Amino acid sequence: MRVALCVLAVAAVAAAAGGKQQQHVFGAAGEQHWQVQQQQHPSDSDVLVSLDTQPGRLYESARLIKVGEGVRPRWLDVGSILALRRAGVRFMDITDAQELHAGGPTLAPEYTSQLPQKLAQRDNVEGAAAKLTTELYGAFLRPFTAFHNRYYDSENGRKSSEWLQHQVEALVAGHNVTVAAFKHKFAQPSVIARIEGKSDETVVISAHQDSVNMWLPWFGRASGADDDGSGTATILEALRVVLQHGFQPERAVEFHWYAGEEGGLLGSQDVAQAYKRDGRRVAANMHFDMTGFWRREDKEVIGLVADHTDGEARALVTKMAAAYTRLHTREFKCGYACSDHASWNTAGFRSAMAFESDQLEANTNIHTPADTVDTLDFDHMLEFSKLAVAFAYEVGYASEA
Ligand code: BES
Ligand code: ZN
Repeated sequence: MRVALCVLAVAAVAAAAGGKQQQHVFGAAGEQHWQVQQQQHPSDSDVLVSLDTQPGRLYESARLIKVGEGVRPRWLDVGSILALRRAGVRFMDITDAQELHAGGPTLAPEYTSQLPQKLAQRDNVEGAAAKLTTELYGAFLRPFTAFHNRYYDSENGRKSSEWLQHQVEALVAGHNVTVAAFKHKFAQPSVIARIEGKSDETVVISAHQDSVNMWLPWFGRASGADDDGSGTATILEALRVVLQHGFQPERAVEFHWYAGEEGGLLGSQDVAQAYKRDGRRVAANMHFDMTGFWRREDKEVIGLVADHTDGEARALVTKMAAAYTRLHTREFKCGYACSDHASWNTAGFRSAMAFESDQLEANTNIHTPADTVDTLDFDHMLEFSKLAVAFAYEVGYASEA
């Protein structure tokens, strides 16, 4: 079946079918097209599109959207982009990151970092990890998820970012850490906390701060507790305990909370492009997107994204999980533009991404008001904070020499 490049058509066809179905989007003759899982959604969603969009901000003109490796990017309007999200098609908005993408994923990195072959920081990791508790998760996530949404192209998203930055500043007070907003072309800034090192390399531990209601992005409720309040809190708690443990790394270690992930990895691409332009040497990125939800019928594991990530970084995380957490890793494929690790991967830096499960579709609440704090398992999240602590020490205390 061929569907025209039009949100109304996509919505109408899906509504008529009233359920899951496969369909082609943008299937123009002679061009590569791809299949998507059409999700159940309200039959009036075609009307909602026009009510909810606010052209005049980021989307006042068309955006350059890429949906797969080797797939030619296309200029799309806001309605078409909304249709992609609702159809579950993952994409990067590369409008402002064309330089980053110019060399493609095969671009040779300017330098290849040395990752530790063996774990060498057991005392530090265990000492710091012993200080981890689940207390901050609830205390942080309840107000964070109380923002009506954290949509990047809105006043809500700007305010939630400001609040997040204040939380980070309060947490690092009294320590030698700089906290800064990284501004973008949309309302919500990313937030970066940096612990200086002795070398010119940087380790990046990250999560995304924005949330989205897939039906009504600008006005809809998007609590975003698991996606990605959980990752946000996971690395915040890790930052708290490493500082308390007297963290003084060889490599600079940064904690990043990206804006605009849901807009097509907007924040992380901006940051990766800026770092690349500045010739910064990013030793490795470890990203946490969704760490709090798992189905009790599944085995409790740490999911490790197998595609668009670095093999050595994955091997290291696998060792760290076995040594320092009560869970083992299982690899799974997340697809193109799954989350912000892909931005670092595109930039040619090592990147890994940990996920709450090896079942991609386990949490059906995401991007809806049902993604709430009470669905999260804080004890599960704690294992991910351990991984973040381990990554900070094992990669941050190692250096090139
Ligand atoms: N946290 C999700 C990605 C995800 C979902 C990973 C389920 C693993 C399982 C992320 O925030 C997200 O929603 N990404 C979008 C793509 C984005 C670039 C538009 C998605 O998956 O639709
Ligand atoms: Zn999401």
